[in-house]
Amino acid sequence: MLNVVILAAGLGKRMQSDLPKVLHPIAGQPMLAHILDTARQLKPARLVVVVGHGADRVKAAFNDASDIIFVHQQPQHGTGHAVQQAVPSLATDEGSSTLVLYGDVPMVQASTLRTLLEAQAQNSSLAILTETVADPRGYGRILRDTDEAIVGIVEERDATARQQAIQEVNTGMLAANTRLLTGWLDRLDNHNAQAEYYLTDIVKLAVADGHDVQASQPGTSWETRGVNSRAQQAGLERAWQTEQAQRLMEQGVTLADPARIDIRGRLSCGRDVFIDVGCVFEGEVQLADGVQVGPYAVLRDVTVSDGAMIRAYSHLDGAQVGKEATIGPYARLRPGTQLGERVQVGNFVEIKNARFGNDSKSSHLAYIGDAEVGERVNIGAGAITCNYDGANKNQTIIEDDVFIGSDTQLVAPVRIERGATIGAGTTLTQDAPEGRLTLSRAQQKTVFGWTRPRPRHKS
Ligand code: UD1
Ligand code: CA
Repeated sequence: MLNVVILAAGLGKRMQSDLPKVLHPIAGQPMLAHILDTARQLKPARLVVVVGHGADRVKAAFNDASDIIFVHQQPQHGTGHAVQQAVPSLATDEGSSTLVLYGDVPMVQASTLRTLLEAQAQNSSLAILTETVADPRGYGRILRDTDEAIVGIVEERDATARQQAIQEVNTGMLAANTRLLTGWLDRLDNHNAQAEYYLTDIVKLAVADGHDVQASQPGTSWETRGVNSRAQQAGLERAWQTEQAQRLMEQGVTLADPARIDIRGRLSCGRDVFIDVGCVFEGEVQLADGVQVGPYAVLRDVTVSDGAMIRAYSHLDGAQVGKEATIGPYARLRPGTQLGERVQVGNFVEIKNARFGNDSKSSHLAYIGDAEVGERVNIGAGAITCNYDGANKNQTIIEDDVFIGSDTQLVAPVRIERGATIGAGTTLTQDAPEGRLTLSRAQQKTVFGWTRPRPRHKS
């Protein structure tokens, strides 16, 4: 059985924020959400989060997750003390392991943690995740004897000048046999520069008990980056975005600039997709083969079918776009929009909760909400559905081959039957019959003998 303990009680003072540190986002999600997702991939029997500073807000943010056991650490006497608070919540059957993670080291990957757990399984006592870095400042240093066996970890503030030169550092993450771990935690003391109970001291206790301590390394260096400041948060965000951009390019996606894309969720792409600069993808986005996305588009929970084109500055949320459709520039598709094949949606068109059949068009300046639009429909500039009467939303039905003239108001509920034409400027309040021209329009008149006013002469 596996326990995962995530430490998240720290203050995060250097963030200079009222928000608890682990709720600050990376790629649009709280840091704690990332590490929880990764932990869940390991299928732990117990998932424990140690909270302290801002505990109520942290718990409230994950209220719906019934698999998390929150334990309080108040006050905070160090990482060893933090893990001690979790002990009563751990599964302690023979052979159970405990993996310790950090809420502010959110992007460690499951593959790295599996390797760490495998290293621990080899000696069934303790394995630590270490890394060799050019600049070891701020980290605990790994102490090895002349045979390269790990003998301890020394915190920077307790390290001698010689120890400070060691470049192999403690990432903080470790895996231990749960029963051995609880025994070592009981024996920790706080006789050190920070008067804290250091989790890292379990290493020397393990060695004293005759266990050999294993080490494993992360798959890539950005995985173990911690966030203590806004600058580190931004740095990790870029590292993660760069990683995702690389993955897309490996899959055959063309990115106009891999440094100018933001994926805050999951983006999956077919073959020969092109994405221009400055696009933001949120939630679940799927782009099928040959899709092109113009600059500065924002797509959230969107499915785009083969060969469709999303032009510059378009904002799509909860929409489905059909094959070879063209959207934008400056289009807005809101939740419930479903567009058929070859649909054209032009600039300053807003669509909400509406279905468009194949080959229908709304090319400029329109609002279509709560509507069913058939095939081959043409909606003129300035047409709007008056879908809301102040109390209820009402449906507009536009059947196949309808032509709607410019500057019309379709006062819902209303139906426009197959092949009907609505004259420009119409305020449509009743259903329009099939195949006919329907319009509402005041009689045009010309006033003869009228002259334009002229400026008065100043006296
Ligand atoms: C810790 C390690 C150090 C390692 C470094 C990696 C110890 C003693 N040192 O040092 O070897 O190189 O991480 O980043 O473990 N926390 C609690 N309760 C506490 C104290 C901390 O929950 O009482 C949490 C913090 O919120 C944070 C994590 O534990 O998420 C690490 O704490 P921090 O104080 O940053 O440890 P470091 O001094 O950086
Ligand atoms: Ca730290």
